[in-house]
Amino acid sequence: MKTYELKINGGVHKAEVEEDTPMLWVLRDALGLMGTKFGCGVGQCGACTIHLNGQAVRSCTLPVESVGNAEVTTIEGLAEEGELTPLQAAWCEHDVAQCGYCQAGQIMSAAALLKAHPHPEDSQIDEAMAGNFCRCATYARIREAIHTAAA
Ligand code: FES
Repeated sequence: MKTYELKINGGVHKAEVEEDTPMLWVLRDALGLMGTKFGCGVGQCGACTIHLNGQAVRSCTLPVESVGNAEVTTIEGLAEEGELTPLQAAWCEHDVAQCGYCQAGQIMSAAALLKAHPHPEDSQIDEAMAGNFCRCATYARIREAIHTAAA
């Protein structure tokens, strides 16, 4: 076991965990940040997506020892001062979520996309979101919400 001081959502959080613990479990089990979801555990479904220095990454395959001083953002840290981001507001406007399980990961991937491409084409959306699976097939609404947020 080792104690890590992690920069998460604008604060510093201490976690005492094994060095190879995936960030998904550091967030959920050690820190109680339950918004990041476990889907497959092998980097294939996108449910566990977080940001590392603004880039979308799969937290289920990201060992805590590799995070270092990087800024981690989870779905809990996306809204600023209690205000939904335009992306989150668009998600609500389009009623994107159905069962909702994958949606935190979807939004984190979409947020990273909009940071890199503020006005993405459909092809850029499809490429950026291809690794985020939704068993309710909300893909059309996800695309609409991203376009609304980008407008
Ligand atoms: Fe991490 Fe599926 S739980 S990609």
